[in-house]
Amino acid sequence: MNLLDVTDLTVRSGDTPLVREVSFSLRAGERLGIIGESGSGKSVTSLAITGLLSRGLTASGSVRLDGHEVVGAAEKSLRPLRGPVAQIVFQEPLTALDPLMRVGRQVAEPLRRHLALRGDALRAAVTAAFAEVALEDPRLARAFPHELSGGQRQRVAIALALAARPRLLIADEPTTALDVTVQDGVLSLLERLVAERGMALLFISHDLAVVSRMTERIVVLRGGSVVEEGPVERVLRAPRHPYTSALVASARALDSALDAGGAS
Ligand SMILES: Nc1ncnc2c1ncn2[C@@H]1O[C@H](COP(=O)(O)OP(=O)(O)OP(=O)(O)O)[C@@H](O)[C@H]1O
Ligand SMILES: [Mg+2]
Repeated sequence: MNLLDVTDLTVRSGDTPLVREVSFSLRAGERLGIIGESGSGKSVTSLAITGLLSRGLTASGSVRLDGHEVVGAAEKSLRPLRGPVAQIVFQEPLTALDPLMRVGRQVAEPLRRHLALRGDALRAAVTAAFAEVALEDPRLARAFPHELSGGQRQRVAIALALAARPRLLIADEPTTALDVTVQDGVLSLLERLVAERGMALLFISHDLAVVSRMTERIVVLRGGSVVEEGPVERVLRAPRHPYTSALVASARALDSALDAGGAS
């Protein structure tokens, strides 16, 4: 059984389709990328997968997450899936963090709830969770979100998402808001954690270079529809859709411009 099966997923705002008949699957431990330009429906798709679509948006078709149907499911039946089954890391870490709570307490909450840790065991698990995302300084756990840098905040958001040991991590442009040097550290961190835990990864980005680094297979979204899907290596070598060819060509052009400038 696949960990995730998305079949003919359509999301509408009123009568307007934002995502049209999107289908793809993800096996346990697999890393799949979704690439597409701004507004192509990447975030709407990821929110539909976890049943987090905002009011006013309606989904049809099917999303089966670990065998459970998400489309049309009651909020109460989705709650047990968020955490142990699937978690999202968003582009802007502040969306995931409570501004009024110290970050250590925020990471403690899912550890308490999902792993039933208490007292010293809970404190040790919080320290380990911070160390795992390379936040070693114990003072950081006592900070409020606004007292951290963007990169540190995204590391906390990742620790928070991983606390319940999800089998699927959905990363929706997790590094887009960070500057390039910090970006690389966060991507390496995600790569390591996904490998160590054998998690499945759904990695969403508008950046072909980043998606091909992080994933084995990619889905190309355009205007809410899937225009191409295949192994990263094949898509880069022989894109089938003109839009994908254009993406590959512009990534290549950027690459050679960097080479010519001696920037790499
Ligand atoms: N809550 C909403 N109500 C109405 N329209 C929405 C809503 N959320 C998103 N949309 C629209 O759906 C389309 C897809 O948006 P989405 O956020 O999925 O794009 P995206 O591919 O994630 O883009 P980006 O790369 O900029 O994050 C856009 O046209 C957007 O304006
Ligand atoms: Mg988005």
